[in-house]
Amino acid sequence: MFSNIGQSFTFREILELLREDLEKVEREISLESVASVDAVTSIGQYLQTGGGKRLRPILLLLSARLFGPTSDSAIRLAAVVEMLHTATLIHDDVIDFAKTRRGRPSINVVWGNHTSVLAGDWLYMQAFQVALRERNFHVLDVLIGLTQDMVEGELLQLERIGKIDISEADYMELVDRKTASLFSVCSRLGTVVAGGDEAMENKMGEFGWNLGIAFQLVDDVLDFTSREKILGKPVGNDLREGKVTLPLIYALKTATADERAMIQGVLTDGNYEQAPFTQILQMIHRHNGVERALERAQDFTQKARAVLASFPESPCQRALLAVTELVTDRDR
Ligand code: IPE
Ligand code: IPE
Ligand code: MG
Ligand code: MG
Repeated sequence: MFSNIGQSFTFREILELLREDLEKVEREISLESVASVDAVTSIGQYLQTGGGKRLRPILLLLSARLFGPTSDSAIRLAAVVEMLHTATLIHDDVIDFAKTRRGRPSINVVWGNHTSVLAGDWLYMQAFQVALRERNFHVLDVLIGLTQDMVEGELLQLERIGKIDISEADYMELVDRKTASLFSVCSRLGTVVAGGDEAMENKMGEFGWNLGIAFQLVDDVLDFTSREKILGKPVGNDLREGKVTLPLIYALKTATADERAMIQGVLTDGNYEQAPFTQILQMIHRHNGVERALERAQDFTQKARAVLASFPESPCQRALLAVTELVTDRDR
């Protein structure tokens, strides 16, 4: 999953550190994903047992433990963020025409688009139902704003589908909304439930935000460089679906007219029949698109690390530092 890095925590060690908490989170998710209609319950179970890194609950729990022991609130909100994430994945796979997710046929393939959209809606609302038990308006306010940001991110992405002239700033605007917002909220809510003040909340929010940007940049690189067997989801899907992501944005800056035409061809056709995927990948490598996108991801993880460096050393601080490395070094 994640590769081992130097002397810092491995992913396995982070899981071990949080084992009891994460078991409780899984129980909470199972318990809360049962509906009176079978399809919703089955979809929830299918996704929960299909794998997934549980990065968002990990982030929330570690952020909370930076300020105090794990509380029931932290467990509950860790379940909430994973449920929200799951709901976005279900909708995202419908929008992206994805065929696989977490190494299995995706929900839209197994249950069809209509059921998937409704199951996603149900899960969103269930996540809010669980969050409501906190009786905390600030928490609800943050979660509602987040959900709107994420939907806006997906909408902006739709507006830009098929366009070859996407700027880096346009792209960053999407990534901010669709991915970094949730990472930011995870570390903010962890801080809030552990009693951190507003300054701490903002600081941890900045940490999560930078980590989230790096995470999506790497996700977009992996869409080009990984293999479906490792990734558990399709490779080359972004460009096929008309999404011009950072490695390609960088490569297009110095591409020749022929190379540009080749990319335009894939965007127009929606397949790799005229220009095989390996040829596209070679073109991106010729212009150092992958390398430059990964360097950019590193810039953001550096910023995330700089925030953490201002906290006293502790196992959780070191685990969070390790998460920043694992995110940029991951292969799935
Ligand atoms: C996938 O997130 C969606 C993105 C923001 C790229 P993850 O890669 O964390 O998905 P799972 O939960 O591990 O399957
Ligand atoms: C992540 O973007 C969008 C979400 C917030 C769900 P992607 O479309 O790149 O995610 P994957 O690659 O399908 O997991
Ligand atoms: Mg997708
Ligand atoms: Mg992706």
